[in-house]
Amino acid sequence: MKSVNIGICGLGTVGSGTFNVLARNAALINARAGCDIQVSVVGARRDNASCDTSQVVVERDVFALTSRPDVDIIVELIGGTTTAKELVLQAIANGKHVVTANKALIAEYGNEIFAAAEKQGVCVAYEAGVAGGIPIIKALREGLSANKIEWLAGIINGTGNFILTEMRDKGRDFADVLAEAQQLGYAEADPAFDVEGTDAAHKLVILASIAFGMPLRFDAVFTEGITEIQPEDVVYAQELGYRIKHLGIAKQREDGVELRVHPTLIPERQLIAQVNGVMNAVMVKGDAVGPTLYYGAGAGAEPTASAVVADIVDVARSLAAPVESRVPALGFSSAAIVDPGVLDIGEIETAYYLRASVLDQPGVLSSVAQIMSQRGISIEAIIQKEPRSGATDVPLIMLTNTTREQNLRDAVEEIEALASVNGTVVKIRLESLDT
Ligand code: HSE
Repeated sequence: MKSVNIGICGLGTVGSGTFNVLARNAALINARAGCDIQVSVVGARRDNASCDTSQVVVERDVFALTSRPDVDIIVELIGGTTTAKELVLQAIANGKHVVTANKALIAEYGNEIFAAAEKQGVCVAYEAGVAGGIPIIKALREGLSANKIEWLAGIINGTGNFILTEMRDKGRDFADVLAEAQQLGYAEADPAFDVEGTDAAHKLVILASIAFGMPLRFDAVFTEGITEIQPEDVVYAQELGYRIKHLGIAKQREDGVELRVHPTLIPERQLIAQVNGVMNAVMVKGDAVGPTLYYGAGAGAEPTASAVVADIVDVARSLAAPVESRVPALGFSSAAIVDPGVLDIGEIETAYYLRASVLDQPGVLSSVAQIMSQRGISIEAIIQKEPRSGATDVPLIMLTNTTREQNLRDAVEEIEALASVNGTVVKIRLESLDT
């Protein structure tokens, strides 16, 4: 059997997971790849006690791998966008194929990396970068290739989902749950990437580019994290039949694409609302297939290794095929990639959950309702609680119909200016995920 040699760069959680899965399932993997996949060299500054590298060459300088004749595929698992970018571009320039789990690298520099790879006639595969072990890139790029993708919505950050789940189920404190996610090894090196939505934005941008055949537009994605979510909103959402999830949403419209990451109320009856803990899930709506749902572990050594190894198998197989018959990096031939324009957040269309603190006096409800009706915003549901003992204000919770975000923002500004409304109005977007 022909051999395909790989060089693994980075021996952290994903690197060691990949090394171990390749060793454990070697016969199965080779039978699927139709060739003998050999780890000829590992590039790592430090050893990792969880894998035995005594039978392979270990280089301390990862860049040394890019010029070794015994490396066909560079597997970049070091993370970050500095050394990793230089390494990947150098590997491509030297005619090596690349497999990476690095979502930040692809989201921020993918356009440049794919162009360089196309010029050199090499593959860049990055399944492990989005939603860990879920083969969502393969599904979008190949399984759904018959469809016009209308929208996709995903829980694509496990740490954020874990925090929201624990807040809802156990009423736990935000900081306390985050510390646990860090201990479990799910959180990014800088956990702000998880809780402020950057990690989900990286993944969303990649999914949107494959779904819609557009360049990677990390510069244009709207990002809002989960740090402002209050426990009481989790409870009110539940009372209204919804769950709050941190979603990445991409929608194709006639006038452009919506690209946004933010906390979102979704109906409890949707399967994706049942996705809890660190698990990830992505819903994709295609015009032919209708709604589809992909679920699995979004992080962790072996779930992520599962995706890395699948890419290695794919690249190894495609080496036997002519360059033009390989699946292109974004699933579209590069000449067909068009930027439809990303819509400003004020232009997006969605429904909303609003919570205001209002004075317990006659006429308040009608003045709020009047502002909404003047702007053509329909109130779909409303809850007003009795005042807590001794309090003069009460929480007023409303769900609206779908409207343009700027219209809603203007209405909220007017409501906040009412003398009977205290402070700012809490605003969380709501998606039914039905159409
Ligand atoms: N920090 C990420 C998460 C890891 O929590 O989902 C996988 O990208």
